[in-house]
Amino acid sequence: MNIKNANKFILVLMLSVFFANTNAQQKTIDQKVAALLKQMTIEEKIGQLNQYNDDADATGPTTVDNDKANQIRKGQVGSLLNAKGTVRTRSWQKIAMESRLKIPLLFGLDVIHGYKTTFPIPLAEAASWDLDAMQLGARIAATEASASGIHWTFAPMVDIARDPRWGRIMEGAGEDTYLGCKIAEARVKGFQGKLGDINSVMACAKHFAAYGAAVGGRDYNSVDMSDRQLWEVYLPPFKAAVDAGAATFMNSFNDLNGVPATGNKMLQRDILKGKWGFKGFVVSDWGSIGEMQNHGSVKNEYEAALSAITAGSDMDMESRCYKNNLTKLVADKKISIALIDDAVSRILKKKFELGLFDDPYKYCNADRETAALNNTTHVAAARDMAKKSIILLKNENNILPLSKALKTIALIGPMVKQLKQNKGFWDVDVPGVDSNFIVSQWKGLQNKLGANTNLLYAKGCNIEGNDKSGFAEAIEVAKQAEVVVFSMGEKRDMSGEAKSRSDISIPGVQEELLKELLATGKPVVVLIHAGRPLVFNYTADNAPAILYTWWLGSEAGNAIADVLFGDYNPAAKTTTTFPRSVGQVPIYYNHFNTGRPVTNDKEHLYRSAYNDLSIYPKYAFGYGLSYTKFEYSNFALNKKTVKANETIEASVTIANTGKYDGEEIVQLYLKDKVASSVRPIIELKDFKKIFIKSGESKTIKFVIDKEKLSFYNTQLQWVAEPGDFELMIGAASNDIKWKEVFELVK
Ligand code: GLC
Repeated sequence: MNIKNANKFILVLMLSVFFANTNAQQKTIDQKVAALLKQMTIEEKIGQLNQYNDDADATGPTTVDNDKANQIRKGQVGSLLNAKGTVRTRSWQKIAMESRLKIPLLFGLDVIHGYKTTFPIPLAEAASWDLDAMQLGARIAATEASASGIHWTFAPMVDIARDPRWGRIMEGAGEDTYLGCKIAEARVKGFQGKLGDINSVMACAKHFAAYGAAVGGRDYNSVDMSDRQLWEVYLPPFKAAVDAGAATFMNSFNDLNGVPATGNKMLQRDILKGKWGFKGFVVSDWGSIGEMQNHGSVKNEYEAALSAITAGSDMDMESRCYKNNLTKLVADKKISIALIDDAVSRILKKKFELGLFDDPYKYCNADRETAALNNTTHVAAARDMAKKSIILLKNENNILPLSKALKTIALIGPMVKQLKQNKGFWDVDVPGVDSNFIVSQWKGLQNKLGANTNLLYAKGCNIEGNDKSGFAEAIEVAKQAEVVVFSMGEKRDMSGEAKSRSDISIPGVQEELLKELLATGKPVVVLIHAGRPLVFNYTADNAPAILYTWWLGSEAGNAIADVLFGDYNPAAKTTTTFPRSVGQVPIYYNHFNTGRPVTNDKEHLYRSAYNDLSIYPKYAFGYGLSYTKFEYSNFALNKKTVKANETIEASVTIANTGKYDGEEIVQLYLKDKVASSVRPIIELKDFKKIFIKSGESKTIKFVIDKEKLSFYNTQLQWVAEPGDFELMIGAASNDIKWKEVFELVK
């Protein structure tokens, strides 16, 4: 046998040993689950499907229940959510170890953007378009959470959202499906790594499905859409989460096309567990099983439990419908025990994979908790992610970056000295930890400038309310400074769950204060803090420089200072469309052309447009500026016709012609010009974030395959139809540098 064949043989041998080993291990887990199942009473089985909230914090309407410890002792509880820290989780786990079969509890928590070290809210992180950084952020969140007794995070939220009135837009990746899929994958991999690894937690793709399309952006509201849109826009990020190995899913509160998601067999059994082959388990959202009575799809809790377990909801978060009704449903022969066994097996498998049967206290090491939380590596990563999330919206006359040689800077506004506000919604209140580890903007600029610069401060006004009594002081302070930094926006909890807003403008009198500050004639840099795209036309039209600073987490102040003074050149770009008015909503970039397309602000007659408003959003999807300048050139396609089984390549050269090194997010868009069902005027199909030193250039290549040319036709077939495609390369969806048509041929 020659060397080459010998190497091949050894490789095959190694692979077969590896897979046999993995299979053996999996078979062991499957065997252990089967063996355990045989020992369990029906009451103990149903216990595994029962999840309670710990009494410390609540993230939903609570039920007073002082008997949880006894129920855990009797094996009637499989999981707790919102229990935090090694001390508390250990105390609950000890009680579980007093049960007959000693089945360990699962501890779940909304670790959405960090545990103690707090990262920017997910919509801000998404604006970085930096998949590696988002994966690292999730990994760090998992490391800290798993060091604090947590086995399972209820993240990533992968709901596509096109309506900024919906407060939970802050929790996802924005309006684009392609980007949403990539971010879903990055976050699942970040949280989970290799399940069972000490720094990993189970991920939970939520909210299944189409929760972001609630009527009017009103949380929990109905969703009604074509199957085609469901498959094309809203389901793909969930499929990406399955492909990335997500251990769990959470279903959504909304009804979908008349059927509540929690009781939606098509979603959970046919698509998720059937077509997609999902082997993990599904947890209901808080009380959503019982809420089907409100929806009116069931008459009582008995029917609610029947509907949910039949549809594939494995674990019942806080409704108690399973605990109170499943035994009777089996006795009444409404469901078979096999249905319950399937749900229980899915949950037990994850407990085995996490290593909890080997060591129920595996994630309860107090020393590890102390070492992990907010350590210097994590803090550095949070600061890096935060600065990458800041969008430069405007920079007239290059007022930014500010010089560190400035003698006097006025920091004005209700956000300047805030601490907890910077953490945004869905932050974690870690037991025993106050807010002093959070870097305020005031502290961030002090850290950056030291004693060299005289920093003046005035709050000026509150975030809400119409009290202008602070205006005079703010104006006086502004007059003493060379530059004013005005920090305004919405409160951290004005976006988030149950935070829908009908008016998404800047609250209170903040923009009125800005007007007074601008009237002093001083250059004013505006920082806008928000969990969603807000409407701020006065600011956008009158302030010379604007940074969208979201809620950037515990390193907010340092990150903002890095960008303000040019130690980091902002590169973030919007992942949602920013409307001019709430009346424009829903407005998103990848819309259909319609039969009466409107392409400018002049001709509205007999065109699809508002006659009292520009047709354009305030800021388009994919928009963001830099301190430097990028020139695009040398566009090329390697062919003009392509067959379905071939690929086509587009290349472009990007030159950094400005004076700062920087990153550019180059976007590739396609338009299927004619198809059996109408196609969007433009769709993101790829992107590359590249770093280019000042004066240098890079040539990049995009490869377009059949997948990128495909769509769901009206029969829900995933097809690429022959015909012309327009390929676009740009710096934003409304800043296309090059268009070229190619043909897909049979
Ligand atoms: C909430 C949210 C869900 C969260 C759960 C537990 O109602 O809808 O996203 O994971 O309850 O806190």
